[in-house]
Amino acid sequence: MKKRESWGSHLGFIMAAAGSAIGLGNIWKFPYIAGENGGAAFVFIYLICIAVIGLPVLMAEILMGRATQRNPVGAFRALNNSKFWVGVGGLGVIAGFLILSYYSVVAGWALGYVVEAVKGSFYQYTTPQMAGEHFNQLVGTPAWILGYHFLFSAITMGVVYAGVKGGIELGSKIMMPVLFGILIILVIRGVTLPGSSKGLAFLWVADWSKISGNSVLVALGHAFFTLSLGMGAMMTYGSYMSSKDNIPNSSLQIVALDTIIALLAGIAIFTAVFSAGLDPAVGPGLIFQTLPVVFAKMPGGYIFSILFFILLFLAALSSAISLLEVIVAYFVDEREWPRHKAVLTMGTVVFLIGVPSALSYNLMSNVHFFGLNFFDTVDYLAANILLPLGGLLISIFVAWIWGSDRAIRAVKTGASRWFKEHHQISEGWLTVLKYLAPVMIFIVFLYSIGVIKL
Ligand code: TRP
Repeated sequence: MKKRESWGSHLGFIMAAAGSAIGLGNIWKFPYIAGENGGAAFVFIYLICIAVIGLPVLMAEILMGRATQRNPVGAFRALNNSKFWVGVGGLGVIAGFLILSYYSVVAGWALGYVVEAVKGSFYQYTTPQMAGEHFNQLVGTPAWILGYHFLFSAITMGVVYAGVKGGIELGSKIMMPVLFGILIILVIRGVTLPGSSKGLAFLWVADWSKISGNSVLVALGHAFFTLSLGMGAMMTYGSYMSSKDNIPNSSLQIVALDTIIALLAGIAIFTAVFSAGLDPAVGPGLIFQTLPVVFAKMPGGYIFSILFFILLFLAALSSAISLLEVIVAYFVDEREWPRHKAVLTMGTVVFLIGVPSALSYNLMSNVHFFGLNFFDTVDYLAANILLPLGGLLISIFVAWIWGSDRAIRAVKTGASRWFKEHHQISEGWLTVLKYLAPVMIFIVFLYSIGVIKL
């Protein structure tokens, strides 16, 4: 058998994993859910969820990958060859197909909006309603939405085709610094706009009256989504690590980068939105409907609008490649397909599954399942059901099935001396995985499928 690929450097792994975590969730979703849930108070709860649940589960996933050097299916099989647990790995691969199929559609919008920004389309808008109408007109055009879905899928396939080191790692090492640089430029533009302090106050001054049980569950659910947990993406990236790598430190770095980028995106967006006197709490339309109007009014808005949508595109691309890699790793490891065959075949399959999602905004807008269009159905199934279920089962598996002693020994391998000597830390980690994470994730799960209402 051919030798399995691995990362070329520690930095390469961090950039790739941070690239997976940093995505539409950070730039598009985090700002608007923070906007809807009272700003700073929500951010505070979110940070606690990230630290207490997100970080330990992230460590567990990376650990399973590194210990087995396999894709999610192979990882479960190597540690416990029962049908049930191998099936859990299989669910991860299926979630990869589903999430990538519609993620690529939205990422296609980002690409299409780079083109709109370059064309200067945003200058026609004077109100978010006008921007909204133009948005609806674009996504209502099958050729537009399918074209960019196709283009984005092809770019994703291109990166993954080039391999773990030569494609994913190299691509991430270029994309992440560019993404960071663009974001810093946008933050500086935002905070130097007149009236930006209102935007900062919105993010940093807590309004506890807006916090409800609901906000807590939204925060926890998002902590999960933003770290790419619950479907074996981080497991797959972990499988290209060696036993010399330090998992606790790496996980901490990934979490820190993901959080910093989400907060910076919040600053860049809210300073601009407040400065333009627009509503910060409009929900999902914030980026495609409010922001273009903000750019139309802002000095230098032409350049900043182009930079913003390039930022969104890069964030989406570095996440999409990790989703495709889960699927590819499965076909390469388990079915012994050559990499190029796995990428081309499965990339095409994902594109095709995404077609009805793209058509949900036009030709298929009348097709509904339980009241949701195709796009929303797939999103619901993957993000609200498969991911929490996956995260729950991964925590249980590592803490209870794989076993305390083995998990602790594995997490200490390659860790710092300080981590190894302070047993309370690794034991605390295991306790979270044993009790707190499963219980909390289960509650979020019940909430997100509508069994619990708050
Ligand atoms: N973390 C990504 C974001 O913030 C989205 C995501 C969720 C994801 N699960 C994933 C990405 C699995 C890659 C793999 O946008």
